[in-house]
Amino acid sequence: FDAVDVIRTKRDGGAVPEDALRWMIDAYTREYVADSQMAAFAMAVLLNGMNRDEIRVMTDAMIASGERMSFAGLGKPTVDKHSTGGVGDKITLPLAPLVAAFGVAVPQLSGRGLGHTGGTLDKLEAIPGWRAALSNDEMIAQMQGVGAVICAAGSGLAPADKRLYALRDVTGTVEAIPLIASSIMSKKIAEGTDSLVLDVKFGSGAFMQDVDKARELARTMVALGTDSGVATTALLTDMNTPLGLAIGNANEVRESVEVLAGGGPADVVELTIALAREMLALAGQPDADVEAALKDGRAMDSWRRMISAQDGDPDAALPTPRETHTVTATESGVITRLEALPFGIAAWRLGAGRARAQDPVIHAAGIDLHVKPGDTVNAGQPLFTLLADDEKRFARATEALEGAWEIGAEAPASTPLVLERIT
Ligand code: URA
Repeated sequence: FDAVDVIRTKRDGGAVPEDALRWMIDAYTREYVADSQMAAFAMAVLLNGMNRDEIRVMTDAMIASGERMSFAGLGKPTVDKHSTGGVGDKITLPLAPLVAAFGVAVPQLSGRGLGHTGGTLDKLEAIPGWRAALSNDEMIAQMQGVGAVICAAGSGLAPADKRLYALRDVTGTVEAIPLIASSIMSKKIAEGTDSLVLDVKFGSGAFMQDVDKARELARTMVALGTDSGVATTALLTDMNTPLGLAIGNANEVRESVEVLAGGGPADVVELTIALAREMLALAGQPDADVEAALKDGRAMDSWRRMISAQDGDPDAALPTPRETHTVTATESGVITRLEALPFGIAAWRLGAGRARAQDPVIHAAGIDLHVKPGDTVNAGQPLFTLLADDEKRFARATEALEGAWEIGAEAPASTPLVLERIT
């Protein structure tokens, strides 16, 4: 095969034959196909798309580039969840221990944040002592004992994707549905979970702002999972407004613990429950009373065991910011809009996120919201508080927030958080 032929086929709108596509991915992993050639191919895919068969082959080839894990020996069902990412999206933190409280194993291989979307591992690392890196044996032992494990994906899973994703990041080719779908699903299928629930987000703070594109991504991923023997469903959920009241790392852990204690913001509770029901239905427990497990302490017990198993201290004080800056309402009225993307960017600029993969995050940095759309406020009332280690960061964060919220006369029409279920 020849990389130039493969690139030309896709450039001219054709379908790449299975053997040629498998060769292309394998040769790229072996560094025989150059980054420049793969970048041209990725751009051709972004512009001309791929058919369902090509997406399946592409996913399969990326799985074949690395190891495949198996949880077959566990003796309990496994179910994972993946979110396409958003602002204030800490749902994995309460969700994994909640689902594990029902005797199901949750292998949650997670990532770190880049840009305005936060990473689950960054949030959990706000807990003193907590360790993200586990060996495969440690992971399996924890799934057997505690049930839930949230840890870093090892470098052995879909190494082709690791290279390709980094390349797409610097060549303007991230936003191609076939490439996103094969990237996410190759890692989830290689991980070896029996079933998977996808939280595919649309709106201001999401990767796919357009709801129709998000739906197409969800359908593509559900088909890929199903074709590979992983029972997969998806929820299409609204990411126009930040989830919950905390955006950052330590503050998102704090909010997650509130949910596990039976409280917490209504939207975080609603999405946690909706996703838990989906996961437990796939694991054979469609009638599980997930609300009861949040109220009676079972989910909290499961959380404490999950954190302790990875050397974290669930009772330790979380880091607090050195500097805070509270923004107040300049007029009275109703909050009509509080837009996710600028709040995500502001939290990032405050130090909660990173600009380069090797940068550290500041665990205490972020934003605490005091109001949500629909709330009435009086002039002078606090709207949100910026949290940072250095007050010099407030100016650039405030700049990002210009026009990010609105106070009006009438409450906004309420929109559903979970728009659709895709099976
Ligand atoms: N997340 C991934 O893992 N891959 C993508 O392509 C996009 C988001």
